[in-house]
Amino acid sequence: MYRLGPEDYQSGRHIRKILRLARASKEDVFFDLGCGRGSLCIVAVLEFGVKKAVGIELHRGRAAKAAASVRELGLADRIEIRNEDFMESDLAGATIVYSGLQEIEEDVALLERELRAGCRVVSLFLPFVGILPAASDYPFYMMKLPFKKTRDPLTWVEKTLFKKASVAEFYRELDNDREYRYDKRALKRMMENRLSGGTGVPTPKVKVV
Ligand SMILES: C[S@@+](CC[C@H](N)C(=O)[O-])C[C@H]1O[C@@H](n2cnc3c(N)ncnc32)[C@H](O)[C@@H]1O
Repeated sequence: MYRLGPEDYQSGRHIRKILRLARASKEDVFFDLGCGRGSLCIVAVLEFGVKKAVGIELHRGRAAKAAASVRELGLADRIEIRNEDFMESDLAGATIVYSGLQEIEEDVALLERELRAGCRVVSLFLPFVGILPAASDYPFYMMKLPFKKTRDPLTWVEKTLFKKASVAEFYRELDNDREYRYDKRALKRMMENRLSGGTGVPTPKVKVV
């Protein structure tokens, strides 16, 4: 599944925020799902000392640029750039995963299948729908495997916005955000599927007689 988007890369400040939030260290194997030019992998290795980094990038030109930078820096033994779809890639061994693309329906099941307990997953702008972050540093959310889940929309919204709000207020806040664009229909669908009612109003119990 390709979510190409523009060449929209994280700044150095944000890259360091992601890696600090995940508490990246020399024990870790870092994966960037959709790595663009590979900057996160390079900073993870050079500044945070992770033992290995894997950048997966479907766009051939971007993957080639990432691989060239890795070679120029002499880091080919510690950074692997794969020109492939991360949804079909082998994620075994990852202890930290960064996912900067908007979530789609399949993501949570894929990560639950591929990643082992204790792995930290950092997302951008929103935590995965129905998953409670273990820590956050806006605009990044860190979730740990096994994912801690809620079906209560208000609990999830509060963790996401850092304040109590209704689901309607949550969407208003997202719509007013000038920095991040998102696919509202896809988000609504996931909220309806995973949260009770998806409206902030508990689903009434119907008594079957
Ligand atoms: C917004 S860029 C982010 C690059 C980098 N992670 C950063 O934050 O600086 C997202 C990248 O994901 C790539 N991408 C989208 N869908 C992908 C997929 N299914 N597999 C691998 N890469 C993908 C896009 O080509 C794009 O380069």
